[in-house]
Amino acid sequence: MQANDTLARVRVWDPLVRLFHWALVLCIALNLFVLEDGAAGHRWTGYLATSLIVLRIVWGFVGSRHARFADFWPTRPRLLAHWQRMKTGEPDPHPGHNPAGALMMLALMALVFGLGLSGYMMGTDAFWGEEWLENTHELIANSLMALAGVHILAALLMSHIEGINLPRAMVTGVKAYRRKRP
Ligand code: HEM
Ligand code: HEM
Repeated sequence: MQANDTLARVRVWDPLVRLFHWALVLCIALNLFVLEDGAAGHRWTGYLATSLIVLRIVWGFVGSRHARFADFWPTRPRLLAHWQRMKTGEPDPHPGHNPAGALMMLALMALVFGLGLSGYMMGTDAFWGEEWLENTHELIANSLMALAGVHILAALLMSHIEGINLPRAMVTGVKAYRRKRP
């Protein structure tokens, strides 16, 4: 930060969004790297992650301003405008999610929901022992890992381009923008 810059602080993420994000990360990390595949702990942690998704969908309609889907839903015009700005090398900061980040968010949430659904189906009489379902569950888990990797890299890259520490904002709820002093 230059000596003649000022910092504008904007409160963007409410406590529920932040709790949702880090609880979801914890559940997924536990299921991918710590808990035994398919054991009771794995199943309950997976259902907790799935419930967080359902809660977040509800919050997307009734939550605070930047938590609402209407604030960031990645429509075609929004995505194109964001892409044009990025191509010209201009930063395109949004107080809430940018359209590309929003698309990633929806994809990550859909994958977690798919894990909950396929995990539940594996335990039913109708699908017990079905290998294709186990393979599907594994494929979704691997896709989630890959997309989460892209998501993390994108968060770090956009933090660098826009000069805003986005992961810190997901902890504190506040985005700090650099502004040139007039
Ligand atoms: C965050 C959500 C979840 C993640 C990241 C996840 C991830 C995984 C992974 C990586 C495996 C190992 C796949 C393999 O190599 O065969 C697995 C297996 C399994 N998961 Fe999940 N899972 C989740 C949710 C659930 C839920 C909600 C259930 C059921 C209620 C469930 C039931 C199972 C079962 C029964 C297996 C063993 C399948 C087999 O025998 O191959 N999972 N899960
Ligand atoms: C399993 C791993 C992860 C998953 C599934 C995940 C999922 C998500 C989701 C669903 C959102 C949208 C939040 C909301 O509006 O409710 C989000 C936002 C965000 N995540 Fe993650 N996340 C993961 C890991 C991480 C990690 C490790 C970081 C830290 C580097 C991170 C940084 C962020 C940031 C900065 C945002 C907000 C982006 C913005 O300002 O628009 N995420 N993530």
